[in-house]
Amino acid sequence: MVFRLLLKEIINKWTIPRSFEEEGKISREGILKLIEAARWAPSAENQQVWRFLVVENKEKKGLITEAIKRQDPRLKSTKHEIEKPVLDAKFVFNTNNFNALKDKYKDLIQNSHKNDINCSKEAAILIIFTHSQKFLGNTFGSTDIGAAMSNVNIEAYNLGYNCRWIRNFDREFLQEQFSISDKYSIDSIFAIGKEKLIQDHSEVEKKDFKNFFFINQWEKCPDFSKFQEEESFKEYDVSAIDAILDRRSVRDFQEDKKIPLYHQHELMNAAMMVPLTVNEPYIKILLIDDRDIIGQIAENSKIVIRRQKHVQQVPLIIIPTYDCTNNSPAFYAEEDTGAIIQNILLRAHSFGIGSCWIGAFNRDAVKEIINIPEQWHIPTLAIFGYPNEYPPAPPRKDLGKICFYDDWKSRIKERERTFMPSSHFLSILFRRMKNGENKSILRERRVGEIEEISEFKEFLKE
Ligand SMILES: Cc1cc2nc3c(=O)[nH]c(=O)nc-3n(C[C@H](O)[C@H](O)[C@H](O)COP(=O)(O)O)c2cc1C
Repeated sequence: MVFRLLLKEIINKWTIPRSFEEEGKISREGILKLIEAARWAPSAENQQVWRFLVVENKEKKGLITEAIKRQDPRLKSTKHEIEKPVLDAKFVFNTNNFNALKDKYKDLIQNSHKNDINCSKEAAILIIFTHSQKFLGNTFGSTDIGAAMSNVNIEAYNLGYNCRWIRNFDREFLQEQFSISDKYSIDSIFAIGKEKLIQDHSEVEKKDFKNFFFINQWEKCPDFSKFQEEESFKEYDVSAIDAILDRRSVRDFQEDKKIPLYHQHELMNAAMMVPLTVNEPYIKILLIDDRDIIGQIAENSKIVIRRQKHVQQVPLIIIPTYDCTNNSPAFYAEEDTGAIIQNILLRAHSFGIGSCWIGAFNRDAVKEIINIPEQWHIPTLAIFGYPNEYPPAPPRKDLGKICFYDDWKSRIKERERTFMPSSHFLSILFRRMKNGENKSILRERRVGEIEEISEFKEFLKE
């Protein structure tokens, strides 16, 4: 049976499961589809530094439950030194900035810890998300993983399942038990299965936009009533699978075509569906639609050999930031912001809005332009506008290379030979040569062939 849920339907019913039906099982095809969805997430320089370990074996699942019971050792101490994010000469971010949690979050975390343990026992499968620490992996690995997690959660809904995001566990223990190479670091775990008691989404506590969004300047709140009132918009939506496969990084935009406020509001909605570590605004998101500020950010995105003229062209930039102070709960903020941006990119695609993630920019300069306080860090940003191009899909590494099954040594699939070169510049060249040849098991068509192509094009023209 093929599910073709619309993206909006999924975004509107996104909840955090607390228990699963214990007899649940996910077919091998279903498992492959979940990883396939992850594979089509964007990644810095298309490096795809992620590796996924799918765990189905009962005993192995028990090891994960044990790791969760042991908890994340970083949470136990309340007095950690602040390790401020450092930008090196290449403007890259050092991700070793884990901070301690305030006492006030401890209860919250303990409660969700119990559910983590139960869900790990009841789930049909668990997925351990890891990324390479090499080169861009060290800088953007957790962000890429966040994007992949968002895709997996959406595809899980599509297949009738839900995912619990588990962060609080002993990573070293897991690394040892599953013989995970020390070149890879473990991000999060997903427990996936059929939810036992599906929660009524209307009863789920909604995050208050006022706590999360600023416009053009730090601490300047948008007038949300204005955003919702706007009526002159055209509703357009695509199936979740199409959004995952057809979203492309766009690098040529129609200048001066603004994004309607209603659509901007829907993007905020999509952002807020991501489950945060605690329901506290340790993440703030800036919407930048001021031409002058966009120009200044564009100036600071011309880095090394990159000119990034696309940053200059767009009517909207979205900048996630997170609190790096001591006692902030921003433990997993790189992943959280990765998932937030990915949700926004997918929802934007469903409106015919093009987007591109930007990781190469001068963070200090951008922080100064919008008065972002010292202790708030910008992991990445993303640009949005109406596309002038619909670029072909850059190739993805095959599933056999990126996915393991029950153990780090066994591959989920007979490994097909992958031609994707690992060197950065060769992979860019290869991308150009292999344009458009990607197929996906998520659907019959080639990636990038939009089914509703004529309607989509019509929509873009308006
Ligand atoms: C964390 C991150 C940083 C990125 N930084 C840039 C960037 O600075 N400039 C750019 O043009 N694209 C950037 N990208 C886009 C990737 O190059 C793109 O996602 C990748 O080539 C795959 O192509 P696709 O998004 O069309 O599937 C970034 C993507 C991610 C996830």
